[in-house]
Amino acid sequence: MSVFDEKAATWDDDPTKLERARVVAEAVRAAVPLTPTTRLLEYGAGTAQLSQELSGDVGPITAADPSEGMREVVAAKVTDGRLPEGTRVWDLDLAGGEVPQERFDLVASVLTLHHIHELEPVLRAFATLLEDGGHLCVVDLVAEDGSFHGEDFAGHHGFDTDDLTRQLSEAGFADVDVRHVHDLEKKGRSYPLFLATATREPASEARGDGEEPAS
Ligand SMILES: C[S@@+](CC[C@H](N)C(=O)[O-])C[C@H]1O[C@@H](n2cnc3c(N)ncnc32)[C@H](O)[C@@H]1O
Repeated sequence: MSVFDEKAATWDDDPTKLERARVVAEAVRAAVPLTPTTRLLEYGAGTAQLSQELSGDVGPITAADPSEGMREVVAAKVTDGRLPEGTRVWDLDLAGGEVPQERFDLVASVLTLHHIHELEPVLRAFATLLEDGGHLCVVDLVAEDGSFHGEDFAGHHGFDTDDLTRQLSEAGFADVDVRHVHDLEKKGRSYPLFLATATREPASEARGDGEEPAS
């Protein structure tokens, strides 16, 4: 059982998490176009708080998380109507290399990437999962001193946003924009969170198709 399995049942009891999801949803709405046909994948969704907030703005929702406990909470929300009928709940860990065949218009992820040791395959998988011109919205910790999780944490101590911008470009994204979105208060300290938005570059442009062949 993962630490997230243990925390899942009470995850939504914390009003600061609900407020964060509300603020992030507002920022996503302002940053990317959303329509009733937008296919949303929330990756590392936890209890899918962001999907709940965006459910009135988007079309079909897929909430993905490797934690069984989190998925059980999301499934209960679909059953009792807190998430729209037809919302899919996926057991998905893109760090493993396999990428589903489905395509989405928006991939969103909140406070998940810092748990993923090797980011590159996951960012590439996001690009694969998005239609050309689709959008990525990632919220996570700005680089911090390690105090957020404390000792023995194997993930990232937040992210240098210039490094992340470069990694997103290398993974097939254009128009990368990073901005402050919220502050997370923990143990008397304040940790800034960024929202990174990016557009899935058409594969032809990423390959340089359309350019005159070298003579
Ligand atoms: C800090 S929680 C955030 C949950 C939710 N996004 C939120 O903001 O409330 C991190 C989530 O990432 C998930 N996670 C951990 N490793 C992951 C991975 N490799 N791929 C996808 N999700 C992962 C965990 O199961 C957990 O639900």
